[in-house]
Amino acid sequence: MARLSTCFVVVILAAQGYCIPASSHERRQATIPSFVNTYAPIVYLHSTETYFPSDLGAQLSNTRPEINYEVVSGAPNPLTLNNLDSLNVLGGNSIYLTSIEDTSSNPQPQWLKGVVPDSTGKTDGAVSCSIIVCDYGNGTVDAYYMYFYAYNWGGKVLGLNFDDHVGDWEHTMTRFSDGVPQTMWFSQHAAGEAFDYSAVPKYNGGLRPVVYSANGSHANYASSGTHDHTIPGLDLPLGVFLADYTDKGYLWDPTLSAYYASVSFPSGSTPVFAAYDKTTPVNWLNYVGQWGDQQYPTSYPGQYDVFGQYRYSSGPTGPEDKDLNRGDGTCPSGVSCTVLPFVLPGEKL
Ligand SMILES: *[C@@H]1O[C@H](CO)[C@@H](O)[C@H](O)[C@H]1NC(C)=O
Ligand SMILES: *[C@@H]1O[C@H](CO)[C@@H](O)[C@H](O)[C@H]1NC(C)=O
Repeated sequence: MARLSTCFVVVILAAQGYCIPASSHERRQATIPSFVNTYAPIVYLHSTETYFPSDLGAQLSNTRPEINYEVVSGAPNPLTLNNLDSLNVLGGNSIYLTSIEDTSSNPQPQWLKGVVPDSTGKTDGAVSCSIIVCDYGNGTVDAYYMYFYAYNWGGKVLGLNFDDHVGDWEHTMTRFSDGVPQTMWFSQHAAGEAFDYSAVPKYNGGLRPVVYSANGSHANYASSGTHDHTIPGLDLPLGVFLADYTDKGYLWDPTLSAYYASVSFPSGSTPVFAAYDKTTPVNWLNYVGQWGDQQYPTSYPGQYDVFGQYRYSSGPTGPEDKDLNRGDGTCPSGVSCTVLPFVLPGEKL
């Protein structure tokens, strides 16, 4: 009996991907599963959007790494997608890629505005998406579609702006079972929503789900209209809420200009990223710092706070911090998660 259960444990570990020898592991990751593109989302940006998807490399050339508003010494120059992770030993999570130009100038620096998708939906000349595939080796594959914007415009409450920041990473995730899409996660601010793939509207009645990116904040929704949300930690008076707005403004096909990578967890919790070819940059995915400026001090022009919620907040961490090893769940750990079998329409404006 004891011997039998020992064997059983070994078999389960192999099936979970912990014991897969390097050679077969490499084979498994050699090509992008075709279903990752077949079922990739089509994103609708809002008709009044001004901060479009942006080039990952341009974020590095327009910023410099800082800690507590001081430039990090000894950082590679130039910073590139191939050496960005060398910042980890120079300050890790305390590092902020900080705009060289003043982001509160009027007009703002053009690079913060990103690239309007062309008539095919491509952000021409800007690689604005990172598609990361986690293959558990047991038929379950999670595909993360990570959307990058150079700037987040947080929206207005009672005439005041909140939560503007440089750098914005948002994502949806689709979970596949034997190549068939099952469920989807939509990131929205600090949380999000999960749906059955079958419940999410499809582009042109086909296979690709439609994702609506909210004006300015780029939170992801499965329907158009107005979506109320509260800012975590901000207790607004008089029942006033911050709203996200989505509609079929600009069509963006993120697959047309994306970097693809696989992720695996051979040692448990540390992600190991690999490109599918020798030319796609992949080291940047290991970077654990922030992709935008640190929250400006109150002395900064235009900075203010109401109940501790700042007009200019800090930039976000990157894809490696989005819980890429979700195991049984569709939602990131720490988020209460119900996979809904239906999508509610947004409210009318
Ligand atoms: C969308 O965001 C822009 C700023 O980027 C703002 O001027 C515009 O009013 C917003 N649209 C809506 C519907 O809130
Ligand atoms: C596949 O492996 C993952 C990671 O170990 C596990 O969480 C999941 O339950 C497995 N799925 C199936 C269908 O066995």
